[in-house]
Amino acid sequence: MNKKRIFFTGGSGKAGRHVIPYLLHQGYRVMNVDLVPLAYPGVDNLQADITDSGQIFNAMSSYAGLDELELGTGVPAFDAVVHFAAIPRILIKPDNETFRVNAIGTYHVIEAAVKLGIPKIIIASSETTYGICFSDGRTDPHSLPLEEDYDVDPMDSYGLSKLVNEKTARSFQRRSGIDLYALRIGNVIEPHEYEILFPEYFKNPEMRRRNAFCYIDARDLGQIVDLCIQKDGLGFQVFNAGNDQNGAIIPSKDLAARFFPGVPLTRELGEHEALFSNRKIREVLGFKEQHSWRKYVKWQD
Ligand SMILES: NC(=O)c1ccc[n+]([C@@H]2O[C@H](COP(=O)([O-])OP(=O)(O)OC[C@H]3O[C@@H](n4cnc5c(N)ncnc54)[C@H](O)[C@@H]3O)[C@@H](O)[C@H]2O)c1
Repeated sequence: MNKKRIFFTGGSGKAGRHVIPYLLHQGYRVMNVDLVPLAYPGVDNLQADITDSGQIFNAMSSYAGLDELELGTGVPAFDAVVHFAAIPRILIKPDNETFRVNAIGTYHVIEAAVKLGIPKIIIASSETTYGICFSDGRTDPHSLPLEEDYDVDPMDSYGLSKLVNEKTARSFQRRSGIDLYALRIGNVIEPHEYEILFPEYFKNPEMRRRNAFCYIDARDLGQIVDLCIQKDGLGFQVFNAGNDQNGAIIPSKDLAARFFPGVPLTRELGEHEALFSNRKIREVLGFKEQHSWRKYVKWQD
């Protein structure tokens, strides 16, 4: 009965449907708060809309399941919030709606968690904050590798919504002193996608330029979220959430020279070290990649 209770938004989507099983297997109790439920054994579902503050405050002060009525001690508190619900890119909804759902929805989730005294919040930001992914035209980064101290400057409504969310998180962290970590998530890859997508990426690397060749295995993203839940006392933090190597076969230095000519390198790169750097999660959180693409795609370098 002493399982940590996790309030997880947007868990029915591409990333959440792998991250939630990972967390359940680590022994957490997870309540998925989404517009649609996730069919997975052991997860609790509550359908709520993050753009409605009342629903989010209410859901966050709710029982996770009927069994919790048996305790007779009132509603238990959540130990952490993991906020993934969003419109996940531009051109799904009109730009203003993408911005509204993502920025206002995140405000509501963070505000409710802070005011209800939940000590840990982890939010999904995005690699798109670096401003290359959804830019108009072919945009170069200011420098490589992309690391968390970069002056992020997206020019699209989705990237902007995620940047605003990082600012919202920082503001609430200053007010409350809790731990509030933003994950700049790389392009999420599900287990079945490697053999479909990666050979195409290798044949035509240009198609990955806008993502700076990054990817994050959906299960490794589960590990990163778990490490964030476990790691206390860091206050406000931004972490790139990516795998160790590029989703490309060309060595990193050559990749940078060919696709980002003239962009300064701020440090030496390992042979295949990701241009979207995951150094901080390795050094600060102890992330150890389990699902490199090399396990799933047979390819001669
Ligand atoms: N997929 C990627 O490559 C990627 C990359 C970087 C960041 N991200 C971020 O990671 C998170 C998860 O992405 P994903 O790919 O799983 O997206 P997804 O669209 O597959 O899942 C998002 C989930 O949020 C839910 N949702 C949307 N609006 C909602 C609302 N108003 N109230 C409650 N729930 C709502 C949806 O029903 C869906 O289940 C998002 O915040 C996304 O912006 C994703």
